[in-house]
Amino acid sequence: MQAIVVSKLGGPEVLSLETAEMPQPGPGEVLVRVVSAGVGPWDTYLRSGSFPVQLPFTPGGDFAGTVVGDTGAESAFEDGEPVYGTPGLTGCYAQYVTCPAEQLAPIPAGLDGTDAAAVPIDALTALQGLTDVLGIGAGDDVLITAGAGGLGHFAVQIARALGANVIATASPRNHDFLHELGAAEVVDHTKDDWPDQVRALTSGGVNRVQICARPTVSGAARAARDGAVIASPVPADGDGDYPDADRLTWRHYFGQPSGSNLIRMAPWFDDGSLEVHIARRLFWTDAAAAHREVENGHTRGKLLLVIDEDRAAQAGV
Ligand SMILES: NC(=O)c1ccc[n+]([C@@H]2O[C@H](COP(=O)([O-])OP(=O)(O)OC[C@H]3O[C@@H](n4cnc5c(N)ncnc54)[C@H](OP(=O)(O)O)[C@@H]3O)[C@@H](O)[C@H]2O)c1
Repeated sequence: MQAIVVSKLGGPEVLSLETAEMPQPGPGEVLVRVVSAGVGPWDTYLRSGSFPVQLPFTPGGDFAGTVVGDTGAESAFEDGEPVYGTPGLTGCYAQYVTCPAEQLAPIPAGLDGTDAAAVPIDALTALQGLTDVLGIGAGDDVLITAGAGGLGHFAVQIARALGANVIATASPRNHDFLHELGAAEVVDHTKDDWPDQVRALTSGGVNRVQICARPTVSGAARAARDGAVIASPVPADGDGDYPDADRLTWRHYFGQPSGSNLIRMAPWFDDGSLEVHIARRLFWTDAAAAHREVENGHTRGKLLLVIDEDRAAQAGV
């Protein structure tokens, strides 16, 4: 099979299309023919060496594709069934990938079978933060920082689907986008006083915060009232401690692969309350261009690599 391989750490130019060994599914794993792969900042952290990784490796942490043969039979996945999921942080920029059966799910009818690859990591991380960490429910106010990125745009929609009132932050060009996704208020996080604006909107500060970008950590602390809980899948600025820990409860967490949580979100995709916004679809030989774009740090929604040639033609890439 063909796969994008990184054999030495570096810039986007180290992404190389090569012949690679077919992955072999182990016990409990399903072999998937990959249609498309999501692109996220973690792909660039691994490629450049800011996250540890063993070389050589194939980037890509989430995929959409079809089950191969009877490899999913034990878990009732059928030959050719459209599935999506995340096997971990690597392996998806490839024509085939293996994935533990409990980390994938059928693609909901309301989600495009190619665009689905851009969903798993960011949507699962958003759901986990809002539900398991923050316990968001109907009528709660929640601040979602960086609401227009991959993680943020799912968080805004999921919080709305849970019945919360959303205050989000974004650059001005994304404000209309976030209002369309359901944010009641959108604050410009390019302005130094954005935390004061959030405080003014919430009579003295928010109680629940979902962080969706590292540069917003210190501002989120300033926007939060004493006793607030802050869910953060990103580390503190400068590898230090989270700010104001004496008056705030910081919960650093990592999004977990979960087919059952993908299934939990399926009704939202089906009824239109959750959708993936694809900023750009690229053919997978353009992976370097996708990495350059994600490294700009201002993607609206998600970037997608289409691997299957027929789907690429259908998607016009
Ligand atoms: N631990 C986990 O499980 C996990 C899972 C998923 C993601 N993450 C992490 O979460 C972060 C976001 O991921 P993503 O996929 O959403 O990335 P992304 O799609 O590249 O989005 C980046 C976001 O950051 C915002 N941003 C950029 N510079 C900013 C600044 N100076 N101040 C405020 N906001 C700024 C952008 O907003 P504007 O364009 O509106 O300015 C955009 O919304 C990454 O660090 C990623 O690694 C962690």
